[in-house]
Amino acid sequence: MQHVNCIVAMTPRRVIGNQQRMPWTLLSDTARFRKLTMGHPCILGWKTFMSIVEMLGRPLDGRDNIVLTRRAAAEVRRLGGIPMSSPEAALVFAKHEKAEPFIIGGAQIYERFMPRVTRLYLTLVYGDLAGDTYFPRLDTEDWTRVEGTLIPRDFHHPADTHETSFEILIRK
Ligand SMILES: NC(=O)c1ccc[n+]([C@@H]2O[C@H](COP(=O)([O-])OP(=O)(O)OC[C@H]3O[C@@H](n4cnc5c(N)ncnc54)[C@H](OP(=O)(O)O)[C@@H]3O)[C@@H](O)[C@H]2O)c1
Repeated sequence: MQHVNCIVAMTPRRVIGNQQRMPWTLLSDTARFRKLTMGHPCILGWKTFMSIVEMLGRPLDGRDNIVLTRRAAAEVRRLGGIPMSSPEAALVFAKHEKAEPFIIGGAQIYERFMPRVTRLYLTLVYGDLAGDTYFPRLDTEDWTRVEGTLIPRDFHHPADTHETSFEILIRK
């Protein structure tokens, strides 16, 4: 079975972002994100794509950046993204790739894709942080926690602004 993966970092209150940024600096999580998603098609919303391009000066490297947007395709292509006008088209495109897709946010994209997600890579960020974007509510009954081998669970970086824990959940 080919999984539809989702990867997110959120607080216990499900905050994922504030004013188009993530309200934390977590080098451990950035490294984890890179390792897990490298070589995989990544599906993301226009706003998240733009915040990545503004931060890095380019799209995510080594990964197709499949960008959900209703705006002109040329604008997305110019910035190095692959434009898609519907979630269904994005998944069909991603499934033609050899590697499993990752849904990487933001909130609108998580909301649309969560019913299709079968594996969730979840970083819990321990802080009562203010935010304006949230991950959808998860029904814990629907998910089983599994152990991963690729990423050590207790990996932290001294420059991290918050304590974190990392979990992998599979849809039952
Ligand atoms: N903590 C994390 O792990 C994490 C991960 C990713 C992002 N984030 C945060 O999430 C926030 C951004 O989330 P967001 O919800 O505001 O924006 P978003 O989901 O990144 O992008 C929203 C845009 O996607 C396009 N879109 C949405 N649904 C669509 C559909 N059905 N068909 C076609 N296009 C569609 C629209 O683009 P157009 O308006 O161009 O049509 C919409 O404006 C930021 O704060 C970011 O830092 C956090």
